[in-house]
Amino acid sequence: MKRNHPIGIFDSGYGGLTILKEIRKLLPQYDYIYLGDNARTPYGTRSFDVVFEYTLEAVKKLFELNCELTILACNTASAKALRNIQQNILPEIAPEKRVLGVIRPSVEEVLNITRNKHIGVLGTNGTVSSGSYLIELEKISNGELVVTQEACPMWVPIVENNEIGTMGANYFVEKNITQLLSSDPEIDTIILGCTHYPLLSETIRKYLPDGITLVEQGPIVAKKMLDYLNRHPEMEEKCSAEGSIQYFTTEQASNFEGKASIFMDEKIEASTIRL
Ligand code: DGL
Repeated sequence: MKRNHPIGIFDSGYGGLTILKEIRKLLPQYDYIYLGDNARTPYGTRSFDVVFEYTLEAVKKLFELNCELTILACNTASAKALRNIQQNILPEIAPEKRVLGVIRPSVEEVLNITRNKHIGVLGTNGTVSSGSYLIELEKISNGELVVTQEACPMWVPIVENNEIGTMGANYFVEKNITQLLSSDPEIDTIILGCTHYPLLSETIRKYLPDGITLVEQGPIVAKKMLDYLNRHPEMEEKCSAEGSIQYFTTEQASNFEGKASIFMDEKIEASTIRL
């Protein structure tokens, strides 16, 4: 078996870089291709059909770029497109390839963190209205958890437009956190159910009472990926391992490079790609 397949990481924009960063920390040996659909972000306010269509286009592009294993590092795409791709598309067009999401791994981890079983979920409109977190948390806990969701539609634009730390960012973060905690004051664990949100975690913590655990997905997804590759040696053996990363964006590459360098804490070079 030849190791000649990079691992694909997809997000609607920059958010998936928070996942890539942690995956690469844990698994630096592999080759990665990051694809951000920056020209069409945000996905969070779009319909099921549109998110599915865009996500499928991106996944097909990653297949063309030779990825056998692809991570949807986007909760909105995981919520609205993953199941359909896994169940209906892969068997038809690429039965040997695998596409994985970020919701299930996060949900499994939260069960080990909460002490009183009161969970808060922060996400985009799309993720919240899909009910994916509610469904997965219900499945895994036999209905033992009290789950409260809060959609934060302004947070992705704040991150994408580099408005972190501004008065506007503080206003919207405080507003959503206050709403979440007034819906259930007993919440002890909050999932950041959008890959853009870790960039706001410092701001979020300003408005959280002590004792609430904020769960970021990057380290969790990285750990689950390691576990997946250990359990699937047939996939691990295909992953090329020269420690490289290639970045593709559907927007202008120079715009992407500037912002993505901030996310990744290093200078990066990107190429524009059409889906
Ligand atoms: N980063 C994506 C997520 O995890 C959403 C961003 C968007 O709305 O496009 O849900």
